Amino acid sequence: MKTILITGATSGIGLEAAQQLAAGGDRLVLVGRNPQKLARTAELVEAAGAGGVDTLECDFSSQSSIRQLAKSVLAQYDRLDVLANNAGGYHKERTETADGIEATFAVNHLGGFLLTELLTDLLVQSAPARILFTSSVLHFGATLDFDDLGFAQGYTGEKAYSRSKLANILYAKALAKRLAGTRVTVNAFHPGAVDTGIWDSIPWFGQPLVSIAKRLFMISAAEGGYTLAYLAADPEVAEVTGEYFQKNRNKVPSRRAQDDALGQRLCEVSAAMVGLTE
Ligand SMILES: NC(=O)c1ccc[n+]([C@@H]2O[C@H](COP(=O)([O-])OP(=O)(O)OC[C@H]3O[C@@H](n4cnc5c(N)ncnc54)[C@H](OP(=O)(O)O)[C@@H]3O)[C@@H](O)[C@H]2O)c1
Repeated sequence: MKTILITGATSGIGLEAAQQLAAGGDRLVLVGRNPQKLARTAELVEAAGAGGVDTLECDFSSQSSIRQLAKSVLAQYDRLDVLANNAGGYHKERTETADGIEATFAVNHLGGFLLTELLTDLLVQSAPARILFTSSVLHFGATLDFDDLGFAQGYTGEKAYSRSKLANILYAKALAKRLAGTRVTVNAFHPGAVDTGIWDSIPWFGQPLVSIAKRLFMISAAEGGYTLAYLAADPEVAEVTGEYFQKNRNKVPSRRAQDDALGQRLCEVSAAMVGLTE
């Protein structure tokens, strides 16, 4: 039985993927920030056939909460087969976390970065293992300015969100390189434009467009969850690493997302931001 950890498991893509993966009889470790939502999610995932369900609390806007989560994982599990970094959100107003970092970058990129770094040894010991990042097609057009990562100047929710999703791919590619030969694969994906609660966070003037998009072309959360479940478990992609998928198709990401030097610099800067450097 595999142990599969999913962050952002309490709604949308994460919840649907957890239920789909549960049908394979594996143990699901569900991570969320809201205990009531976690309890309800656990019931649904158990009912879907999981071989075991555990819940762990974590607020990804807090580095101490992420460190506590990693500590709990290391204490409770002697193996981890899949780490799916899926928690994320859209922040229409610029806010900073208690760690003094712009919230979108902190939650969507640094959250998964810190958790993954703290669990990498366990994943390597558990190989073959898989690490996933829920990125977005919106990374196309994103910029990365190391002098102002958190948009102290010129913040918009869109720009911050796109930047965080570019960071997901750059980190996935850099980590895949670092873990070459360990039989731990690392991939990022765009799940499609998915009808989930994330769209409630966009500004009021965008809402009419969202309603139309939901009716015309957005896919269901179940379909969005499928890509995560596919990359987490399908034998077809067992050896694929360092790639970017759109739905379940391997695609070429933006030019910036393929820039290895940019990815390396992002890893160094991110490590410093989460206190992982000497
Ligand atoms: N929907 C799309 O079209 C789309 C497209 C591309 C990529 N994505 C990505 O897919 C991922 C899942 O989003 P979704 O569409 O499924 O939206 P969602 O239904 O809003 O789910 C987001 C999940 O992340 C959790 N989360 C957000 N901020 C958190 C924090 N600070 N600490 C802990 N957990 C936090 C949420 O917890 P709560 O339940 O407590 O709020 C929820 O479980 C995100 O990374 C998103 O960027 C979505």
